[in-house]
Amino acid sequence: MAKKFYITTPIYYVNDKPHIGHTCTTLAADILARYHKLKGEEVFFLTGTDEHGAKVAEAAAAEGISPKEFCDKVSQTFSQIWPKLDIQYDFFIRTTNPEHEKIVQEVLTKIYQKGDIYKAKYEGAYCVGCEKFINEGDLVNGRCPLHPNQPIEIQSEENWFFRLSKYVPTLIEAIEKENHPYHYEIAPESKKNEVLAKLKAGVKDLSISRAQVTWGIPVPWDETQTIYVWVDALLNYYTATRITGRENFWPADLHLIAKDILWFHTVIWEALLLAADLPLPKKIFIHNFYSVDGQKMSKSLGNVISPEDLREKFGVDGSRYLIASSFPAFADADVGLSKFREKYNSDLADGLGNLVSRIAGLAKRSEITISNQETTFVEEKLFEQKMNEFDLSGALAVVWEKVNQLNKKINELKLWTKKKEDLEKDLPTFIEELRKIAVLLSPFMPTTSQKILEQFKGPKITKQTLLFPKIIEE
Ligand code: MSP
Repeated sequence: MAKKFYITTPIYYVNDKPHIGHTCTTLAADILARYHKLKGEEVFFLTGTDEHGAKVAEAAAAEGISPKEFCDKVSQTFSQIWPKLDIQYDFFIRTTNPEHEKIVQEVLTKIYQKGDIYKAKYEGAYCVGCEKFINEGDLVNGRCPLHPNQPIEIQSEENWFFRLSKYVPTLIEAIEKENHPYHYEIAPESKKNEVLAKLKAGVKDLSISRAQVTWGIPVPWDETQTIYVWVDALLNYYTATRITGRENFWPADLHLIAKDILWFHTVIWEALLLAADLPLPKKIFIHNFYSVDGQKMSKSLGNVISPEDLREKFGVDGSRYLIASSFPAFADADVGLSKFREKYNSDLADGLGNLVSRIAGLAKRSEITISNQETTFVEEKLFEQKMNEFDLSGALAVVWEKVNQLNKKINELKLWTKKKEDLEKDLPTFIEELRKIAVLLSPFMPTTSQKILEQFKGPKITKQTLLFPKIIEE
């Protein structure tokens, strides 16, 4: 039986358009999904959209359409852009899916019946941008740090509360002790420490229903309230396994997220699962953020980079390479179109592309015969290590080390001056190395990898394709 690997991305809010931030997480998930498939595992890769809540209802009203119509429209911009970047998710979950709604109600009822949900009055600073009450201590100049242009509202209402505090001791142990029955891993270490420190500082119970938000899933035992959008959203990871008949994939092996939604995914999510008697995810990896040309990416600054922009300029595999090689795994990363163009030209046009065309050219000219064997996935220790740490740029750097070495060796040996007999001796090693590079690259650049493997399939090389035409500055 093949090992199972269940990987998820956050489900994205429909009140935004897909941008390079969403793209880096979804692409990372696709690369890891392909990598695990390459190792013979059975993979379930889930992404989707988060469609309830006040913000979505407001965005729909602004366009004069119903929330459902609005969600149908925007959700498609997400579900349709990913395949255009060769991102092959297995299922696209929408929280307005009636089956999702039903299972969310079922899980909540279970937690309620267990006594972990109670009614109380809530009053606090509420940020409409985040869809959440903000801790007083987290406000910056009385504003939400993520939405400094939106006013904070003081809201008060009767809500249903989840006994989050009850689960804090168990969560701390489950995170800290590897042999704990509920152990789950938070990576990288710095994020784990951040969560533990916050847990140990004390945690209050969580309001999990809203009296004023109508665009949401009704609380099953109290129709005057809807379920807090975050509880509804987190449960997608579980409901999707039931909706698709993949119950055997639960729990998730890996939730990929960024630092903005750390607390929800490493504390609230696990507490809800514990309360519902459901197994906990195995691992959560939290990456950092992109900034663009030194600034926070924002609509108002007009510096948002969209996946379409990238694909138009750099092609599918070009875009995949540029995003993966700048993936903000452990620190924020600054990107920009002109930096991307330089990187494309140096690493792809002059680097890999040039290497492939030089070797193909030499093989074609000398008409050498090469072996027909299949190149399979070979374990590359350092590459493996980087992949297991989710250091995508590090893994690519390992491969580019090889690319650069081969290019250098061609120069040193002055292969272009050699006669057929010498090339017959020298070239097969280059070709074999290139095939290995192509296989390692297959999760990152599936089409390019395929093209290289086809081109050097043997016995004769007849084509000399240009993989990455150089991009001249506009
Ligand atoms: N709907 C919630 C998630 C619910 S999951 C149960 C949400 N949506 S979101 O549309 O705001 O997406 C947030 C995620 O988008 C981040 O965690 C990250 O994966 C990605 N990114 C958004 N902006 C980003 C950057 N500037 N840089 C890198 N990734 C970013 O939160």
